[in-house]
Amino acid sequence: MKLLVTGGAGFIGSNFIHYWLEKYPNDKIINFDFLTYAGNLENLLDVERDKRYKFIKGDIRNKHDVEKALTGVDILVHFAAESHVDRSLYAAGDFITTNVLGTQILCEVAVKLKIKHFHYVNTDEVFGALPLGTKTKFREDMKFDPRNQYSASKASAEHFIRAYYHTHNLPMTISYCTNNFGPYQHPEKLIPLFITNLLEGKKVPMYGDGLYVRDWLYVKDHCRAIDLVLKKGIVGESYMIGAQHKEVNNLELTRKILKLLGKSDKDIEHIKDRPAHDRRYAVDWGKIAKLGWKPQYDLDHWLDKTVTWYKNNQNWWMRVKSGEYKKYYTKVYGK
Ligand code: NAD
Ligand code: TYD
Repeated sequence: MKLLVTGGAGFIGSNFIHYWLEKYPNDKIINFDFLTYAGNLENLLDVERDKRYKFIKGDIRNKHDVEKALTGVDILVHFAAESHVDRSLYAAGDFITTNVLGTQILCEVAVKLKIKHFHYVNTDEVFGALPLGTKTKFREDMKFDPRNQYSASKASAEHFIRAYYHTHNLPMTISYCTNNFGPYQHPEKLIPLFITNLLEGKKVPMYGDGLYVRDWLYVKDHCRAIDLVLKKGIVGESYMIGAQHKEVNNLELTRKILKLLGKSDKDIEHIKDRPAHDRRYAVDWGKIAKLGWKPQYDLDHWLDKTVTWYKNNQNWWMRVKSGEYKKYYTKVYGK
């Protein structure tokens, strides 16, 4: 089996490549990635010389490059995206071109080359926000209600995928996962940002009251779920992927990180809230459970492991935090 992964140099894509090569020793995998600020080939140093792995630098918005790379591929797993909500609020252009136009080009080429399976990695954020203090959860049959430029672009892309499914029989599946955490996550996202700030002796910037709920999913559980959808998912269907633990808000999560690093509430800095900040995400993953999946990795144990990973890989995140990210950090959080 030959897979092509878009965005394989990013956080989830690189974890997926590691997962796949370990689990399926006879498969070949191509990583097609444009290496934006979020793409980092250091995430894949250990497989660089593996004969089953090939990196192609390319832009999903370039039809010619996509067609060349996809020729002879059986399965396409589409991770590549502009993925950070905060960036999308003030510079939505790349979110539209990469997330929407790039996805449409992948669909067109996948149809032309008769790719056997196209899996789109979507986000639960397309469903909008849930109220605090209720037990309501997102389900696959709910209407989209994106409330920021990132989720709007991810929702738009899905409409194109569905259009190609209906008009050209694109053999697609879709998954909506909750917030992932684990190794190789860019320190612009909450968990790695807070861990690395604390390791640098800085405070952690908490938006608003911190009572925002996310359903934290360990990245390996996400990879296992995509694997299952590729094996057993029904073409044309979509699947929610969520975590196993009880809900925690940002404040509670931050206190867990503070404790693991021997810090206290004094290291929290409450800053101005993000506009249209989605209050709560929670997903009902009953549909994928029927295929035989449930999350295996709990939050406390794997948060501890993640903190240890960032402690042991200071060179990795220090390089990521310098350069382009430094400018972005000053713009969003000030000095
Ligand atoms: P990431 O930002 O870490 O990585 C994105 C990758 O895409 C990078 O390697 C980047 O270089 C590449 N890329 C960007 N534009 C490209 C282009 N035009 N052509 C080719 N490659 C390009 O993202 P991530 O956190 O690994 O997320 C992967 C996917 O999962 C995204 O589609 C995201 O929407 C989705 N998702 C992520 C989360 C999460 O918690 N991280 C949750 C739900 C869904
Ligand atoms: P993030 O990791 O950006 O993911 P998303 O916005 O896709 O959920 O943020 C997770 C939560 O953490 C979200 O409620 C916003 C909050 N947050 C902060 O409070 N401070 C920060 O500096 C960041 C990056 C996020």
